[in-house]
Amino acid sequence: MLTKLTMDILLVENVVAGYQSSNVLQGVSISLSEGEIISVVGRNGVGKTTLVRTIMGLLPVRSGRIEFAGKQITSKAADHRARQGIGYVPQDRGIFPDLTVEENLRMGRFIGTKRNSLDFESVFNNFPFLKERLHQRGGTLSGGQQEMLAIARALINQPKLLLLDEPSDGVQPSIVEEIGQFLLQLKATGEVTVLLVEQNFDLLQTVSDRAYAMEKGMVADQLSVDDLNNDEILAAHIAM
Ligand SMILES: Nc1ncnc2c1ncn2[C@@H]1O[C@H](COP(=O)(O)OP(=O)(O)OP(=O)(O)O)[C@@H](O)[C@H]1O
Ligand SMILES: [Mg+2]
Repeated sequence: MLTKLTMDILLVENVVAGYQSSNVLQGVSISLSEGEIISVVGRNGVGKTTLVRTIMGLLPVRSGRIEFAGKQITSKAADHRARQGIGYVPQDRGIFPDLTVEENLRMGRFIGTKRNSLDFESVFNNFPFLKERLHQRGGTLSGGQQEMLAIARALINQPKLLLLDEPSDGVQPSIVEEIGQFLLQLKATGEVTVLLVEQNFDLLQTVSDRAYAMEKGMVADQLSVDDLNNDEILAAHIAM
């Protein structure tokens, strides 16, 4: 029997983190193998965004540890993590509404030395509609188009790990489907591992290799592909 040798690209061990005097994450452990699309599900307020922000380095780890690509990054700053290859698309997308699409893309290019040679070709290959809209202001795009712009902006830095926080939020179903197809293409390149926070059944079922289900700042369950494709099991872990 052939077994595929995969490396853990991300290891989160017993992580406690939160805001001010309250801990939101109460000892979270997850691991992602290279090339997987792993989802995090759970009701509103269970700590999904807090987990993603902690992995990005935007919130300090109060105890526990985080390893990325074999290196300890537990107390490294967000910019260090970004340079190491972690990309982040926040839940609110973080598009600058008054900047053009092109300027938004350039704002994402904070890594590397070839600052003037932004790879627009690969952006247009991924999201052709952005080509015609380069000079349009970010704020005039639809929710789904803004989400795609935010993903394109994160990918400009060629991350090894992409953190996607609820890409379907406020996005019409046809574009959610496009995003799902795009994530499958991205997975097929084998170059990017994705941690996807989601509550949309179709998107979860289309792209996830497996999922972690969170409750009250903890991982309460792990879901296989079969579990994810069982609407009843999935519904039990998601805000309805
Ligand atoms: N900036 C903040 N300051 C203080 N508490 C916060 C802050 N952001 C979130 N919280 C609290 O932390 C808890 C977890 O929030 P978090 O945003 O991680 O949840 P979530 O699972 O992403 O929810 P949703 O599905 O609504 O996006 C909630 O109780 C929330 O009120
Ligand atoms: Mg959230």
